[in-house]
Amino acid sequence: MRITDIILKKRNGGTLGKEEIDFFINGYVSGEIPDYQISALLMAIWFNGMNPEETVALTLSMAGSGDQVDLSAIPGVKADKHSTGGVGDTTTLVVVPLVAACGGKVAKMSGRGLGHTGGTLDKLESIPGFEVNQTMERFIEIVSEIGLSIIGQTANLVPADKMLYALRDVTMTIDNLSLIAGSIMSKKIASGSDVIVLDVKTGNGAFMQDVDAAVNLAKAMVAIGNSVGRKTLALVTDMNQPLGNAVGNALEVREAIEILQGKYKKGELKAVSFALAENMLVLSGTVRTKEEAGVLLQEALDSGRALGKLGDMIEMQNGNPAVTEDLSLLPEAGKVITVKAEQQGFLSSLRTAEIGHCSMLLGAGRTKKSDPVDPAVGIWMKKREGDQVEKGEELAEFHVNDEKNVDEAISRFRKALKISDVQPEKRPLVYQAVEG
Ligand code: URA
Ligand code: CA
Repeated sequence: MRITDIILKKRNGGTLGKEEIDFFINGYVSGEIPDYQISALLMAIWFNGMNPEETVALTLSMAGSGDQVDLSAIPGVKADKHSTGGVGDTTTLVVVPLVAACGGKVAKMSGRGLGHTGGTLDKLESIPGFEVNQTMERFIEIVSEIGLSIIGQTANLVPADKMLYALRDVTMTIDNLSLIAGSIMSKKIASGSDVIVLDVKTGNGAFMQDVDAAVNLAKAMVAIGNSVGRKTLALVTDMNQPLGNAVGNALEVREAIEILQGKYKKGELKAVSFALAENMLVLSGTVRTKEEAGVLLQEALDSGRALGKLGDMIEMQNGNPAVTEDLSLLPEAGKVITVKAEQQGFLSSLRTAEIGHCSMLLGAGRTKKSDPVDPAVGIWMKKREGDQVEKGEELAEFHVNDEKNVDEAISRFRKALKISDVQPEKRPLVYQAVEG
């Protein structure tokens, strides 16, 4: 088999077989096939697409390129969740303790922030002492004992994705449905869980701006998961404003803890978290219906058991579990600046990715992989889309340490919020559930 024949076939609109896909993935990972030929192939895939069979073959070939985590030592059904990435999107820190408090098992590997989106590992590291790096043995031991653990990906989890992602990033081939689906699902499959619940974001803070594209991505990923015997479901959810009020690492941990403390009765972050957790419990077989799951989850919240599970995980991973009771133990920024409305009206739209960028400017995210993040800084939103705003009323708090970029961040933030005379129509929070 020759890589030139494979490139030619895809360039001319042909369909690649499983052997051809294995050949180029294995050859790329082993170093036998150079970047320039894979770049050409990626561009041919971008133009001509892959059919569902090719997409499944790609995903499995990628999943098999490195470690395959074996969770069979943990008794019961293991459930995972994944978000395609958003702003103020802290569902993992709410969902995982909730599911564990209802008897579910969650062995989760998470990632770091990417561009304007936050990452669970960065958020967890804002908890004093918390260690995201654990050996596989310890990870399995923690989940067996308390039902939950969140760690960083092992170094050799899907090396094909690390290499392909870096190449896609510089060859303008990120935004292809099969390549995105393969990238995400190869990591989920290699991580070993039996149940996978996906939160596919759509809107101006997401990878997929329009709902139809997000639904198609959701369908592709659900088909891949189910085709290899993982019970997979996706919710397509709104990302046209930060999901929670907090944007920034310790601030998002604070909001997640406050939800688990029962401080909020409403809110989009809590609602999406419950929707994801309900589906995880149903697919795990813990309950039969989402309604039963909802009752169980509410009870886990009201009793404090879910908050207790978060504390257990923090303790097992060398962090200070007292943060779940005393939020002042989280890092706090030196200065809080209030941003007030300059006119009255309705908050009619928010440019969500830009709000993520403003938080990055304060130091909450990275522009390069090696950049440090400041756990304490970020933005706390005081208004939601559709809210009425008086002139002089608080729109947001900026939590600041280094003041270098603050003026720019505030000025860009103001421009990212549109205040107008007409109240916008309320959007759906969950657009669609995609089941296998
Ligand atoms: N997230 C991933 O992990 N991979 C992609 O290709 C896009 C988003
Ligand atoms: Ca403090």
